[in-house]
Amino acid sequence: MAKALKVVVLKGGRSLERGVSLASGARVEDALERLGHSVVGIDVGHDLVARLRAMEPDVAFVALHGRDGEDGTVQELLEVLDIPYTGSGVSACIRCTDKVLSKHAMRDAGIATPDFLSFNETAFKELGAAEALGAIEERLGFPLVIKPADQGSALGIKFAGDPGAVPAALVAGFSYSTKVLLERHISGSDLAVSILGDEALPVVEAIPEHEDGYDFEARYTIGQTRFVCPAELPPETEQQARDLALAVHRLLGCSGFSRVDLMRDRQTGELTVLEANAVPGLTETSLLPLAAEAAGISFDALIGRIVELALDR
Ligand SMILES: Nc1ncnc2c1ncn2[C@@H]1O[C@H](COP(=O)(O)OP(=O)(O)O)[C@@H](O)[C@H]1O
Ligand SMILES: [Mg+2]
Repeated sequence: MAKALKVVVLKGGRSLERGVSLASGARVEDALERLGHSVVGIDVGHDLVARLRAMEPDVAFVALHGRDGEDGTVQELLEVLDIPYTGSGVSACIRCTDKVLSKHAMRDAGIATPDFLSFNETAFKELGAAEALGAIEERLGFPLVIKPADQGSALGIKFAGDPGAVPAALVAGFSYSTKVLLERHISGSDLAVSILGDEALPVVEAIPEHEDGYDFEARYTIGQTRFVCPAELPPETEQQARDLALAVHRLLGCSGFSRVDLMRDRQTGELTVLEANAVPGLTETSLLPLAAEAAGISFDALIGRIVELALDR
């Protein structure tokens, strides 16, 4: 480590992923201390700007997930205050947070993403979108995946098995967001590829212990999902997944690090991209640290590198 820095770790906040963020933040703080930096953790709230002004940190480590922290809001404040910060800039955060926007960008760029449609609340309330559901269901098939356009950690995601289940799934989606994404279901395995700097790390495969059990609870409860890294994939598939993830990271304008979530179709083997996460989790059970470990990069080295990348930007 070159130089001891004054680092603030931004964590917590008001997002639904507050708990995950507190866990990520605590772990990041420990690592930064071991690296010899002077570290202050901030649970972000009303006094954020005042505290940042008073502290004049060398760099801010953004360990926030979800609303405010991952959607460009905090990044915009850090820009205004002229404080270097980790991870992606404002525009990339906005693109990653909005799954509809990022899926359009991918489709336009020829990057495979499951077929989809999306509607905002107005379409249902004022334009009679419900009348079009039959046509949508015909195009996308069942089960139909319904998710809020801008949440993470599987919050609000429903798999509707038949037309009767669609209205309730839409209501659930709209309880999280004003825009909902309806997506073709891919039957297969979940892959995650983390990017560090300009390199894709080894692929992580998430295998749920119970079919159908991959929800918010399962993801953060050790033992309910098994993560394999490196994934047991044919070498050309592994390479293809890494190439796709790096292409998405670049397409969305991410910097420093990110994690791209993909599906691998069980029948055809086809890879499709679900989304990119601008601030992937850094907890004990998170996938980026696992992938780094598989690449021979310890958690402390990972955190050190992320800070370095922030200062180089
Ligand atoms: N189209 C889909 N087909 C099958 N499974 C899906 C689909 N979309 C999401 N999932 C499942 O839900 C998980 C979370 O979806 P994702 O789009 O990555 O949202 P987030 O991680 O932001 O909650 C995925 O990792 C996958 O297991
Ligand atoms: Mg995801």
